[in-house]
Amino acid sequence: EERDSIVIDAADPLGRLRQEAAACQRCPLYQDATQTVFGEGLPTADLVFVGEQPGDKEDLAGHPFVGPAGAMFDRALDDAGIDRRRAYVTNAVKHFKFEPRGKRRIHKKPGIAEINACRHWIESEMEVLKPRLTIALGATAIRSLTGQSASVLASRGQVLSSSFAGPVFVTVHPSFLLRLPDEQSQKIEYGRFVDDLKAARELAA
Ligand code: URA
Repeated sequence: EERDSIVIDAADPLGRLRQEAAACQRCPLYQDATQTVFGEGLPTADLVFVGEQPGDKEDLAGHPFVGPAGAMFDRALDDAGIDRRRAYVTNAVKHFKFEPRGKRRIHKKPGIAEINACRHWIESEMEVLKPRLTIALGATAIRSLTGQSASVLASRGQVLSSSFAGPVFVTVHPSFLLRLPDEQSQKIEYGRFVDDLKAARELAA
């Protein structure tokens, strides 16, 4: 039995990382979150998508991008001709950070300390995945991957470099689209997001 698990570990480095990350105490976020939400997808993916952190739904389900932002992301991937099952999807920070407000848990942006503490995991994932292109979804992913505090506005559509991840293509976070106030701007920004995803797909082709 012991031997089996060693064989499985060697053949499945991401599975081993996932197991290790499940016990992560590198920052205090593990104390209140339900569980670590590790990356998921094809180990040989050409494209790796990096979000911010799991949300309420992801924290409960244990899977990345399965809540409202995930539904928006899925739709955009589909419209961009990208098969999520052939990609790898992860987050810069792997525990949900929130503030309790009555029965609700309100999302809180991860800070620099949490991003830095969690970099160990994204770095380890990237070491295994070595994708053709990494797509940073929003400012937290940019910060995690490049160490820069570049704004999404300033670097959208650009390819930044990372000391551990290879080329990093920048676009908005799908939850940005959910926060837009009117239907007109939602439509325009959704189209821009899909165009960014198509550009990323082309860059990795
Ligand atoms: N937002 C993220 O950044 N990641 C998720 O997994 C869900 C929502």
